[in-house]
Amino acid sequence: MTEKADMSMRRAEQRLAALQAELHEHAHRYYVLDAPVISDAEYDRLFRELLELEAQFPELVTPDSPSQRVGGEPLAAFAEAAHALPMLSLDNIFAAEELADFEERVRRRLKSTAQLTWTAEPKMDGLAVELIYENGLFVEGSTRGNGLVGENITANLRTVRNIPLRLHGAEPPERLAVRGEVFLAKKDFAELNRQRTEQGEPLFANPRNAAAGSLRQLDPKITAARPLSFFVYGVADPAALPCASLTELFPHLRSLGFPVNPLIKFCRSLAEAEEHYNHLQQLRHELDYEIDGMVIKAASFAAQEELGSTARAPRWAVAWKFPAEEAEAVISGVEFQVGRTGAVTPVAALEPVRIGGVVVRRAALHNQDEIRRKGLMIGDTVLVRRAGDVIPEVLRPLAERRTGKEQPIVFPKECPTCDSALHRPEGEAVTRCRNPRCPAQRLQRIIWFAGKSGLDIEGLGPKNVERLAEAGLIEDIPDIFRLNKERLAALDGWGEKSAEKLLAAVERAKSTTLAKLLAALGIRHVGETTAELLAARFGGLQPLMQAGEELLLAVDGIGGQTAAALREYFADPNNRSLINRLLETGLSVQAAEKKADGGPLAGMVFLFTGTLASMSRAEAEERVRQLGGAAASSISKKVTHLVAGEKAGSKLKKAAELNLVILDEQQFVRLAAA
Ligand code: IVH
Repeated sequence: MTEKADMSMRRAEQRLAALQAELHEHAHRYYVLDAPVISDAEYDRLFRELLELEAQFPELVTPDSPSQRVGGEPLAAFAEAAHALPMLSLDNIFAAEELADFEERVRRRLKSTAQLTWTAEPKMDGLAVELIYENGLFVEGSTRGNGLVGENITANLRTVRNIPLRLHGAEPPERLAVRGEVFLAKKDFAELNRQRTEQGEPLFANPRNAAAGSLRQLDPKITAARPLSFFVYGVADPAALPCASLTELFPHLRSLGFPVNPLIKFCRSLAEAEEHYNHLQQLRHELDYEIDGMVIKAASFAAQEELGSTARAPRWAVAWKFPAEEAEAVISGVEFQVGRTGAVTPVAALEPVRIGGVVVRRAALHNQDEIRRKGLMIGDTVLVRRAGDVIPEVLRPLAERRTGKEQPIVFPKECPTCDSALHRPEGEAVTRCRNPRCPAQRLQRIIWFAGKSGLDIEGLGPKNVERLAEAGLIEDIPDIFRLNKERLAALDGWGEKSAEKLLAAVERAKSTTLAKLLAALGIRHVGETTAELLAARFGGLQPLMQAGEELLLAVDGIGGQTAAALREYFADPNNRSLINRLLETGLSVQAAEKKADGGPLAGMVFLFTGTLASMSRAEAEERVRQLGGAAASSISKKVTHLVAGEKAGSKLKKAAELNLVILDEQQFVRLAAA
């Protein structure tokens, strides 16, 4: 480089830094504080200058430059992003009485409840995301996914205007993972749908779906064109910041540049929280964005820590949902659907009705008892409730609308598919078809196995499974792996291309993980999260199949019902035979250890100090390695996490000086359950 070129590059570098700082500041004032100090035209001028300089010196473009908000190159697919600490869900309540129960549970579990305080926060109806900052720079953002592993959507999140790309303040933490909700304002949703109507594109059902669709675009430029917003509502690990409670955390996050919902209220009692709930419910329809309830959290991090979490949700928080949206509809008939476990579910066919912007044609009747309890008849005008995403349900008949022509709903005595006698165990509400060869059950099991919660085989959704079953190509799950190209291609409307495509997807699904296979089998009470826990603990199918109740119950997050369901499932010769036949088709199940190459602890180096209560140090180190992390024997710059057991000594002090992540045993166990 000539001296002159070097000079102009250095000057450009300085100017760029100044421009970036200025633009960051103005964007923050505009999008986060809602208090701009320069005109839009002036902002545009600065922005254009930045773009021109960056075009001249592309090597000076940094990932946190304001220019990166416009979206980068399209991706072929999203990569996985593991959450260092699980992203949990929330337990729901629907009435003030349940709030009292919640408080009672919290107080019972805490040693001292003297100064319990709470936050009452609008429950944003958007998408949960995690944002990671390293030394103040936004480096990775992901969806919640199954809570343990989500999708890496960094490029898309960079386009969300009020997500800081660089934290404010002189001394940002080395690593910070914040969590919050991405959403689309109601008016922006309406405008987006208006444009889509004009362009003849399918409409989004609601702002939440529109936000989800926008965030999960492989082309970040499309996301950039959608005016998404963000509110932060927490951090993965409060220890990363100098805050003892949410009361301190929210102002701190605001000072770092994050948008915090101004409707979050700090409460000294749950009576105050209840007042805020009523207030928010009043305000709900005037707000610019959708909320579906209020989240109540114990404010103190020490209290949160003491209360802990179940595999699903923290014990220190609860979501108090707003009453759902309701409408009147007429029941035109009842269908009886047979599920994969043989449960026969009545579903009301409705004359189409719009509820909360969605056309509803079917509604759950749940079971025989519910039908009787509500006194429902065919021909009844009923109240139907649609709560967010869940399946609409029939609440009650409007008896005053009866004409006398209504017909009783008769529950069948035989399975509508295989004619075998239905059975309703004493004390249970569910009526079941107990024929293990029932084609309807079998079909549902195949659909589940191939579907999103199972092996997620592309092109093998419910419609195609039904199609292949009708054509006699699939009778049972293992048949998926024996599909043959000629017969597929010969199907009406198929051909070689589609046959090859499906076979390629099946081939990809053939090598899977233990967790995915477990979830795919559809064992009762074993969803994705539980499957992950089991896979991590047992490593392979054999040890799990042989595990007795005690071993199962020893897994954190596995309760009595789940353990019993697992025992029952693996004891059934039909299921054992299914598993054997699956393995015979060449299905390969990676053990959990193998998965760990890029596992949840990848890139982390653990050092243990002090005595651990629940395992030996060697076991703990082995666990770390299984999950893709490394174990160190002495403190050094390479170490990222220090786990301090009982009587931790000098290493703990040293670790604090080095600013390492310090975990206690409980926190480590939770992390290593991933
Ligand atoms: S706290 C461990 N706070 O609700 C605590 N969640 O039903 C988990 N949500 O996945 C979340 N507003 O997407 C929290 N103020 C708020 C929230 C909120 C909306 C969503 C979030 C979460 C879901 C759980």
